[in-house]
Amino acid sequence: MQFSYQYILVLGSNLGDKKQNITQAITLLKENGQVVLREGDFLFTEPAIEKNQPDFINKGILCCSSLSPEDLLQLVKNIEIKLERSTTYRFGPREIDIDIVWWSIGEYHSEKLQIPHKENNSRSWIRNILAELIPANLAQSLYYKSMNVETVKTCLDFQQKKNNRQKIVMLTAYDFSMARILARTSVDALLVGDSLSNVIQGNDSTLKATIDQMIYHGKAVRKAAPDKFLIIDMPFLSYQISAGEAVSNAGKIIQETGANAVKLEGGIEFIDVVTHIIRSGIPVMGHLGLMPQSILIHGKPSLQAKDENSKQKLLEDAKALQAAGVFGLVVEMIPAELGNKISQSLEIPVIGIGAGSDTDGQVLVIHDLLGFNSDFSPKFVRKYLDFQSDAMKAIENFSKDVREKNFPSRDESFYST
Ligand code: KIV
Repeated sequence: MQFSYQYILVLGSNLGDKKQNITQAITLLKENGQVVLREGDFLFTEPAIEKNQPDFINKGILCCSSLSPEDLLQLVKNIEIKLERSTTYRFGPREIDIDIVWWSIGEYHSEKLQIPHKENNSRSWIRNILAELIPANLAQSLYYKSMNVETVKTCLDFQQKKNNRQKIVMLTAYDFSMARILARTSVDALLVGDSLSNVIQGNDSTLKATIDQMIYHGKAVRKAAPDKFLIIDMPFLSYQISAGEAVSNAGKIIQETGANAVKLEGGIEFIDVVTHIIRSGIPVMGHLGLMPQSILIHGKPSLQAKDENSKQKLLEDAKALQAAGVFGLVVEMIPAELGNKISQSLEIPVIGIGAGSDTDGQVLVIHDLLGFNSDFSPKFVRKYLDFQSDAMKAIENFSKDVREKNFPSRDESFYST
């Protein structure tokens, strides 16, 4: 049989033996020629639309199919009928519900069927199913499509996000393995920040990051995330000496890593440098507020632009950078009202870190968001994972298994016969 397509189906049930209903539906799909490549775990979810009914159990499956979307829809409906799905009321309780949420060809729109599924965005757990099941080689672009997220490919797409009032999501990345994970998410842009000096090298400032190190890490990130919009920081002294040196360093970064843009710190005093880099054809993102490369002058990291004069100076710097042609601006550790004002005053997107919720997007250091360091909890970071503690538990479990001779098992060992 010719399998032309891959689909992700989400099966749900909130009546009767929920797991059994889902398992039966999968059996019927297989009996009708669908090849199930991968099954997700059972998920427990709340009803999305009509709230007053039992919770659902859901499961996603990735399958190969020779059927067109309409034919698969017909098969799915037949299976729902065969499993005696109740028709109480629209979005009411049901023994089985099968949605086609993703198709390897992309979008499909007819009166009966919409792929990506209309509810993909409102059911946040679908993200996890898609992230888990979409084949790695198709992951990025098709994941975006399935979540109705516009992909950022160029600086113009960055601008488009602001024009459409869509928040921009940016995270740092420094190595292949983390970038590989980030590449499978809907994050809009990756930044190889000179914060790698702190996070990767353990220094207490960004001053020790060099051009060669930025390129080394940039290459690793680019390898894992070839389609992401990639920005690389220009490190300390790579652009401060002269505009000519700045252009050749920016050019080296772009040529050797395949990044889309560079970022550098500074306002009016660096307009000449910014202008020269942009004139050479390299997009530049600005960075104002806390500028870690000036740490020796400003002292330890702290809230910037607290008084009226420095607020005014920051706004003027931002406007000057915009006039010089930067495609976006990072503002770090400034009062939320100022973050709001700058975002409102500029046409280009403003990405905040510790700058309140009203900027056009947010950036964080990935290690902070994932909780790599339990002792580092600045006010502006929200930890979405306690990686340090989870990793320590995993390592202790491994140590225990080794000491108690529980690792490796027979299945984890090689034998000559
Ligand atoms: O180097 C970095 O990680 C940064 C972000 C904090 C924006 O510049």
